[in-house]
Amino acid sequence: MTIGILAALREEASHLLADLEPGGRRTRIALRDYTSGTIHGHDCVIVLARIGKVAAATTATALIEHFGVDRLIFTGVAGGVAPGLRIGDVVIADTLVQHDLDARPFFPRHEIPLLDTSHCAADPDLTGRLETAAQAFLDGTIWQRIGPDVRRQFDLVQPRVHRGLIASGDQFIGSATGVRALREALPDALAVEMEGAAVAQVCHEYGIPFAVMRTVSDTADDQAHRDFPAFLGQVASHYAHGILQCLFEAGIPPAGPARTDPQPPLNAPGLKARAT
Ligand code: ADE
Repeated sequence: MTIGILAALREEASHLLADLEPGGRRTRIALRDYTSGTIHGHDCVIVLARIGKVAAATTATALIEHFGVDRLIFTGVAGGVAPGLRIGDVVIADTLVQHDLDARPFFPRHEIPLLDTSHCAADPDLTGRLETAAQAFLDGTIWQRIGPDVRRQFDLVQPRVHRGLIASGDQFIGSATGVRALREALPDALAVEMEGAAVAQVCHEYGIPFAVMRTVSDTADDQAHRDFPAFLGQVASHYAHGILQCLFEAGIPPAGPARTDPQPPLNAPGLKARAT
């Protein structure tokens, strides 16, 4: 079993890379460095995916095709969209949707053309393990890693774990109107980011179990840009590292048998305008 880990941020990738036992091998493909090694006895390949859906999809595809990963985990930050989400909370995806995908009138809004679905489901087992690991981190070593000054700076009171819908698109949402429009279009969305649903689509098509974890860095409103870089280095990097450490320490059993019922072929009927 080989687990692919995609990090959106250089800081997250660097902490995780330090965990790879000595002898990690580096392979450069299409401007990215893929580092293979083991963490707590698990074979892993870690890579910085970069930002946006295309970057994430090509990186996920390379992990599957070149490295044969049979599990995939994405870690990064997100804007909180649902009321009540606070900076420093963790969101674990049950399902993901591309909020900027709109091929109307041929397909309903958000539907992935020729896949017959708009939402891709994360693997329930891996997702459950990630949720448990996130809770263990928040109940455990978080304040050993994040000091009182940083805690005060970002007003991190009692961070919580949430599980639900994550929306992805090629936009940083950073305005009251932007986040309001997103809430109207996708009332169930907990958080917004720029990669997860693209990885989800690739994994759905290949039949690879995956999970997505995000630390809430902002609330996608006019304040979203404030302190963003500081949050990445001083908070999000510790979350990604701490949570994945909890996950690997608890152990990840091998994936079940590969999917034997491939998705319907994509040479679907010609486009027809459909009601939305
Ligand atoms: N990642 C972190 N915050 C985000 C936001 N507000 N919009 C899109 N991606 C994000």
